[in-house]
Amino acid sequence: MKIAVIGTGYVGLVTGTCLSETGNDVICVDINEAKVKKMQNGEVPIYEPGLDLLFHRNIAQKRLTFTTDLAAAVKDAQIIFMALPTPPGGDGAADLSYILGAAKDISKLITDYKVIVNKSTVPVGTADKVSAVFAENTNVEVDVVSNPEFLREGVAVDDFMKPDRVVLGTKSERAKKLMTELYGPYVRQGNPILFMDERSSELTKYAANSFLATKITFMNEVANLCEMVGADVDAVRRGIGSDERIGKRFLFPGIGYGGSCFPKDVQALVKAADESKYDFQILKSVMEVNERQKTILVDKILKYYKNDIKGKHFALWGLAFKPETDDIREAPALYIIDALVKHGATLSVFDPEGMENVKNIIGDKVVYVDNQYEALKDADALLIATEWSVFRNPDFDRMDEILKNKIIFDGRNLYDLEKMVDMGYYYNSIGRKL
Ligand code: UGA
Repeated sequence: MKIAVIGTGYVGLVTGTCLSETGNDVICVDINEAKVKKMQNGEVPIYEPGLDLLFHRNIAQKRLTFTTDLAAAVKDAQIIFMALPTPPGGDGAADLSYILGAAKDISKLITDYKVIVNKSTVPVGTADKVSAVFAENTNVEVDVVSNPEFLREGVAVDDFMKPDRVVLGTKSERAKKLMTELYGPYVRQGNPILFMDERSSELTKYAANSFLATKITFMNEVANLCEMVGADVDAVRRGIGSDERIGKRFLFPGIGYGGSCFPKDVQALVKAADESKYDFQILKSVMEVNERQKTILVDKILKYYKNDIKGKHFALWGLAFKPETDDIREAPALYIIDALVKHGATLSVFDPEGMENVKNIIGDKVVYVDNQYEALKDADALLIATEWSVFRNPDFDRMDEILKNKIIFDGRNLYDLEKMVDMGYYYNSIGRKL
């Protein structure tokens, strides 16, 4: 099939690349000329494991191309994906100007039937607004389909190629047929393509992310309680997760959820509910508790040092909001750095992918080092903010030689409690005994 993808951000690029992998002709459009040039020259603009292989393979096969020319891209396309930003506006509601603007531009260019697919996370009712833009500007028939993405950064290629489900909001039989053909190769294992109306599809996206954020937040509260009553959150996690109704995934406590999706989507759903005069109480608590959870590690540190960390030097492992990404948006590590520096401490930090991005935001507020062991030099304690695999099984003998004190504050529960105690560490983690 012939596909156009408007917007080559994270979602657009993964979508375009993965759609070309099953033999479709995909042309990706972006207004950023420098970026398009780079992609034309074979440069992947984001860090996402596994993406470069597919990207290069499909470029070589000429199934994946890039352009700044919207008219050329939409001309022959049967399906046009919009993967455009929807940043939170000043009032917390998603800003739709990119999407509605692109819809208007496309409406003036098309001459035959198109399926317009919205991939961005958008408020309920957006498909209707996009349809209205087409109705105002062209007589050409279009069907607007809501198709939320459920890609996780770090495993996005796998999530796209083997989705748990594909959600498609449309009432048009013609669009349903084309979309079923397009997504067929991705659901061969039998995972469902779920057709529903546009509004339900749009709400599904927000509800899914908000539910997961709630699940994590619930576990974070259980972890905090574990510390107070002398229970072990790992045991409780396994205990409840084995119940299939609860499920094992997304039950890992930590230092609060971050990233570009959960915080934004929870906030947007609360806002949308408010606008409909519905008080979405549980999500308001989720936001509040998550803010508090981001302070947990700093609170533990301040308590340990009796509120005086002036002149202390800390090693921080992990900056990205989660492993396998260089994304630092809403990363708990940023909060930790800010709070510790405000209290007069200094930090040496290491992250396998996120250091450039942090440097661009906070500059020389901290010392950036080339590997995790170098960060430990002269450090009073080690802090862990992201569960990168390279931190999971470190060379403890080497660490013992470098660390001034055997003290670890671990926001991700990477190590076995008993092992740490046996090795003589003061090991303070989340929801477990000291
Ligand atoms: C999330 C969703 O998982 C995707 O399905 C969705 O498509 C995406 O948002 C989006 O809307 O674009 P992502 O933000 O990449 O994906 O990251 P997740 O793996 O979901 O992690 C989100 C946050 O939750 C991270 O800060 C992570 O550390 C935290 N988390 C996750 C926990 O604290 N505990 C867990 O058990 C799992």
